[in-house]
Amino acid sequence: MRALADNIFAVGAIDWDLRLFDSLIPLPDGTSYNSFLIKGSEKTALLDTVAPRKTDDLIGHLISAGAGSIDYIIAHHAEQDHSGSLPDILVLYPEAKVVTNAKCKGMLIDLLDIDEDKFIVIEDRQTLSLGDKTLEFVFTPWVHWPETMCSYLKEDKILFSCDFLGAHLASSDLFVSSERDVYEPAKRYFAEIMMPYSKPIRNNLKKLSEFEIDVIAPSHGPAHKNPQFIIDAYTDWAGEEVKNEVVLPYVSMHDSTKKMADYLADALIERGVKVTVFELSKLDLGKLAIALVDAATVVIGSPTFLVGPHPFAANAAFLANALRPKARFISVIGSYGWGTKAAGHLGGILSGLKAELIEPVIVKGYPRGENFKQLDELADRILEKHKEAGICE
Ligand code: FEO
Repeated sequence: MRALADNIFAVGAIDWDLRLFDSLIPLPDGTSYNSFLIKGSEKTALLDTVAPRKTDDLIGHLISAGAGSIDYIIAHHAEQDHSGSLPDILVLYPEAKVVTNAKCKGMLIDLLDIDEDKFIVIEDRQTLSLGDKTLEFVFTPWVHWPETMCSYLKEDKILFSCDFLGAHLASSDLFVSSERDVYEPAKRYFAEIMMPYSKPIRNNLKKLSEFEIDVIAPSHGPAHKNPQFIIDAYTDWAGEEVKNEVVLPYVSMHDSTKKMADYLADALIERGVKVTVFELSKLDLGKLAIALVDAATVVIGSPTFLVGPHPFAANAAFLANALRPKARFISVIGSYGWGTKAAGHLGGILSGLKAELIEPVIVKGYPRGENFKQLDELADRILEKHKEAGICE
């Protein structure tokens, strides 16, 4: 049985096989559902459970850790990848009380039909003594849902952050052994789950700065003995600054839009603007989400399919709108045969972004001389906007 520290045991599960989270989000590296058993001198607490598909792993680990009884189950978050085993664990340990905030209690009752008398409701910054170990609860709403919270184990200076500061990464490492290997899974996780909540994340990072933290133990991915690594990364990703980068997702049916995307990419490179191009028919949406974390500008390329945008382009625009990246400028390029409303539709789908629309370039048929001039002008306008934003010279 692996220990995070004295009398703190890792009892969660590694999910090497899961490839799609929430039936949407690609997980190329799998994930883990971390759960920790803390044996205090007087009381024992279980921090979170695991996804229902891994309940047997959790029970096996609890037996190995010698968990004869459990006094408290701390529920940091109601989502089922951490709460899904709760009903079974409550049957196995009928003496246990679920310790959580009022909002999470309501959600756990709604989602898992847990009896009301099983709960102890705590307030922000309230403490819970386990004897020689003391948990302090820190409400961190919207890191991922409105009820999310963390626990700080005072004597060991460990922050149990649940989803916050995590990474979808199946690894046998209990602690991060290579920050380089964890960086991209952590950024992918931030992009897919946390990015819409960047403002609350900034507030919660500020709140956590009051604590002296030696270890951050999230509920997904390995724990951090160098907490500053993941705190600095989140500070950067959730910050308001954008970079001199364009994200250019496109789809093409007969190569006209592809020709435009390739030409615009080259034009941006010539002007010193970083560009990342994604062909949407074979896309890992997580890669697009990662690129959206930093980019100042998003340009979507779509042919006209019937009279509107190609569904793959509409899907990318819908995702970008939902993830609320901090992009400040958007545009559309594409080709049509006899009539089109594609640019208007895509602009409408992206309306949730607080971004300025740069005049789209929509051409009839295969692009030619005048159209390439229009794409050069679009590249010029993007560069000009980036200069005005102070992100390039
Ligand atoms: Fe890991 Fe929001 O659940």
